[in-house]
Amino acid sequence: PPSSAARHDPLAAIHAEIGSLKDSLFQLLGSSHPALDTIAKYYFHAEGKHLRPLIVLLMSQATNGLAGPGWTRAREEALAQSVDDSLTVEGGVLNDWNPEVSGRESGAVTFGEPFRIPNLAPLPPRLKPTLQSLQTSLDDGSPQILPTQRRLASITEMIHVASLLHDDVIDTSPLRRGQPSAPNEFGNKLSILSGDFLLGRASVALARLGSREVVELLATVIANLVEGEVMQLRATSEPERIPTKKGFEDYMRKTYLKTASLMAKSARAAVILGGSGRGEAEWVKEVAYGYGRNLGIAFQLVDDALDFLPPDLSLGKPGEGADLKLGLATAPALFAWEEHPELGPLILRKFSESGDVKMARDIVGRSKGLERTMDLARKFAGEARGMAERLPESEARGALVGLTEKVVDRVK
Ligand code: FPP
Ligand code: MG
Ligand code: MG
Repeated sequence: PPSSAARHDPLAAIHAEIGSLKDSLFQLLGSSHPALDTIAKYYFHAEGKHLRPLIVLLMSQATNGLAGPGWTRAREEALAQSVDDSLTVEGGVLNDWNPEVSGRESGAVTFGEPFRIPNLAPLPPRLKPTLQSLQTSLDDGSPQILPTQRRLASITEMIHVASLLHDDVIDTSPLRRGQPSAPNEFGNKLSILSGDFLLGRASVALARLGSREVVELLATVIANLVEGEVMQLRATSEPERIPTKKGFEDYMRKTYLKTASLMAKSARAAVILGGSGRGEAEWVKEVAYGYGRNLGIAFQLVDDALDFLPPDLSLGKPGEGADLKLGLATAPALFAWEEHPELGPLILRKFSESGDVKMARDIVGRSKGLERTMDLARKFAGEARGMAERLPESEARGALVGLTEKVVDRVK
């Protein structure tokens, strides 16, 4: 029997969802090119936290049905939206470059020749799950998550992993999710291309959700991730000369762009797909957005604090001042700088001289930097909690609240 802790774990109900997420992802990622197939799936094989899909699934559960009388129709529309998995069907259009596969469908294909289909078959009937069958699966006590919302959860993880593939190239990071990083294992070029491949597949899946608003939100997330990363690059090439409010605000903005934007906008998208947040319930979208935004900032602040911890394999990535080694001054260093002006020159030369990283870690260790970073993280997590608490009581809401505690208590 499950331990009492597991019985009372509000996330237990969602574990099965996360389990099937992997299968669903692998279906979206198949490529008949062996290298792409391997690398695009590589980070999904390792143990991830699945925080972004978790937020989407829980927000879906917690908000579906919150649009009052008009919601029934909205839900019917949402249910009728199919999320067919034909992306990787062999011989399907996504394999049209592969003569072996395409050949099976349409006779011999030679490269250099235009692709033609000799006998154009009539269109197959559109795959559309009947409202009835979905309704049944929703009413049998299983979590009321729509197929489109489930698919959105996969898409958030695809975008996240794409950004990690690129990030590990930029950061020359040897380790990710407890194993050699993709660039370490397969090289930079294939890692970048695999990230791009993931974004392509995520875009197809996104378009199929059938909501322009949702496509725009998630496309903006991708732009934001790049903007955040570029802001970070600029911060290392043109650091502030003294600790200023603007310097800290830039850091917070960068933190939103590179981490919180995905959580915020995908939580909002989950509400849109559920057909909630319409009319008088418009605020539900705002609550979802605010939850993701605050939680995401808290999450990244903790991440930046964890980077100062002593080596610990459980982190699954380098840690031990990895940010300092990249020339980055994150919240703990920015706070410490206010107390210890001698940190300034090190920040300005991006910890580039031998002994700088160790000295910076010592100064931060003697300062209130880590404490203030964690206080700020708790403040943001508290705001996220406040957002969640504006939703009607439910198990999913309880789990969303639980997440706000987990992000600040986590050690990895
Ligand atoms: C991890 O940060 C990185 C991100 C959260 C975003 C990285 C974004 C890009 C590389 C832009 C390209 C984006 C796409 C969608 C292809 P980190 O380096 O602080 O964390 P880490 O310690 O986990 O490496
Ligand atoms: Mg990195
Ligand atoms: Mg990085």
